[in-house]
Amino acid sequence: TMVLSSFAWRGLALAVLVKVCLSVSNRCLPGDDCFPTNLEVIKFMETLDGTLHFPHMASYDTLVVQRETIYTKFPFAIMEAKNINDVQKSVLFARKWNMLVSVKTSGHDFIGRSTAHGSLMIYLGSMNDTKVNLSSTRNPAGEITCESGNTWLKVYNEVDKINRVIIGGSAHTVSMAGYTLGGGHSPMSRMFGMAVDNLLELELVTADGRIVVANDQMTHITYPNGSVTTSDDTDIFWASKGGGGGTFGIATKFTYKLHYPAPQVVQFVCGYPIIRPGGQDIGFTVLKKMFLMVQNLPKEWGGYLVASGLPGANGNWGSIVLAMNHYGNYVSASRRYMDDLFFFHKEWQSFCYYVNRTTFLDYEVTAKDPEFYSGYIMNTLLQKESFTDDLTRFLLKELETEHTNISSFAFTGTLLGGIVKYFYNTYNA
Ligand SMILES: Cc1cc2nc3c(=O)[nH]c(=O)nc-3n(C[C@H](O)[C@H](O)[C@H](O)COP(=O)(O)OP(=O)(O)OC[C@H]3O[C@@H](n4cnc5c(N)ncnc54)[C@H](O)[C@@H]3O)c2cc1C
Ligand SMILES: *[C@@H]1O[C@H](CO)[C@@H](O)[C@H](O)[C@H]1NC(C)=O
Ligand SMILES: *[C@@H]1O[C@H](CO)[C@@H](O)[C@H](O)[C@H]1NC(C)=O
Ligand SMILES: *[C@@H]1O[C@H](CO)[C@@H](O)[C@H](O)[C@H]1NC(C)=O
Ligand SMILES: *[C@@H]1O[C@H](CO)[C@@H](O)[C@H](O)[C@H]1NC(C)=O
Ligand SMILES: *[C@@H]1O[C@H](CO)[C@@H](O)[C@H](O)[C@H]1NC(C)=O
Repeated sequence: TMVLSSFAWRGLALAVLVKVCLSVSNRCLPGDDCFPTNLEVIKFMETLDGTLHFPHMASYDTLVVQRETIYTKFPFAIMEAKNINDVQKSVLFARKWNMLVSVKTSGHDFIGRSTAHGSLMIYLGSMNDTKVNLSSTRNPAGEITCESGNTWLKVYNEVDKINRVIIGGSAHTVSMAGYTLGGGHSPMSRMFGMAVDNLLELELVTADGRIVVANDQMTHITYPNGSVTTSDDTDIFWASKGGGGGTFGIATKFTYKLHYPAPQVVQFVCGYPIIRPGGQDIGFTVLKKMFLMVQNLPKEWGGYLVASGLPGANGNWGSIVLAMNHYGNYVSASRRYMDDLFFFHKEWQSFCYYVNRTTFLDYEVTAKDPEFYSGYIMNTLLQKESFTDDLTRFLLKELETEHTNISSFAFTGTLLGGIVKYFYNTYNA
């Protein structure tokens, strides 16, 4: 029998890879004969209300940098949209010339999916209007419509002014689009659900240039030729609620439910090292305790379990931190639930404290938002029954042995559950 050498195998793998790459980039790129001429590009530019930024312009340099900098790539041009018509025109232009399209709002994507070399980048970061409707018949506390280019901090400030809260990202600079289309978790999700559970309506431009307004009752389509249809087919609304950024179209507007604020917000942050000075390894005991705590968490609490494997202060190594928020009074049974951790091995704690805050915004402005960073994050979806001793040991082993020299290897556990599971049950009923 003939056995292929590893060299031959590699040759075969390379041939397959090249074929796959060619077939996915079967687009007209700058320099190809099929690419639109400068004159065609200028004619297109004149139809836009927004701006086309080219690589020789200083404005391009600012817009091109991804927040996760290692994924910065160089589009042929960046179309900074002013309105939905600009988005539609760009999609139709790219379609006509078989150009590669990239879609970016904040550029936060962890693996650079919002940029591509040689693409026509459709950039929505400047579309940031908002409109509040407190006489909504769809939701008692009212609704807000946000263009995709809003950042969460801008929206938090606007809803705080009218004494409301909204489900959004913990990061200030993440925008509506990729966040919401991917599901969208919030430190308040255990109270009010995920972003998609709070989505009432969205507006998007599909790959064939249709303008679609969709909610859970109807889909309204405006075709490029101006003809209009309305139907009760709600598939695109359903699919957009978690289908991921760019999967079903370019979203330009989102309408969300608003909520009444809690009377008070209490922040709780509690951190332990993994290994204490002198080598006492407390990682397993601490992580297991935190897992037990979060499994039975009252819905008023939400937040994150974050661990990292870097040397700490005072001879400590590694850290395990529970960073939480309570939507309700300091003097309430649900807040006191966390006292169990507050008093757990106080002598081991690096820090452990409560802070009385007035509102969600008061907490949120203190939340750190890393920008222009480079790191590795391990994320996973866990069910209550996933918190086994094996998982605990696995996570600690990853931190302790595999990645200690990588600048910032960490895992972030976002705590869901609470109300989120009822939405899940509703959809699966
Ligand atoms: C520091 C940090 C903190 C984060 N915190 C949270 C959090 O608390 N909760 C949470 O749920 N997520 C969080 N995320 C993840 C974040 O929601 C996703 O990375 C999200 O995809 C970012 O969307 P974006 O539009 O801001 O980014 P972009 O990089 O602009 O886009 C992300 C993806 O969506 C596509 N896209 C962009 N704009 C549009 C549009 N208008 N229509 C359709 N598709 C579009 C892009 O092509 C790309 O595939 C965080 C990310 C970072 C970096
Ligand atoms: C909103 O977008 C405009 C450009 O359209 C920009 O000048 C402004 O700074 C943005 N506002 C915020 C708060 O980001
Ligand atoms: C508010 O929303 C309701 C539907 O819930 C709608 O009938 C009404 O026209 C909206 N008002 C404004 C000012 O947009
Ligand atoms: C417009 O386009 C749609 C979809 O392609 C088509 O069904 C419709 O007949 C067209 N309308 C006109 C007036 O051309
Ligand atoms: C928070 O406020 C309550 C009164 O509402 C007070 O009893 C408590 O000590 C405060 N806690 C902290 C940590 O400041
Ligand atoms: C990490 O660095 C230490 C010395 O700084 C070295 O001994 C060790 O082998 C490195 N580990 C990995 C996984 O690279």
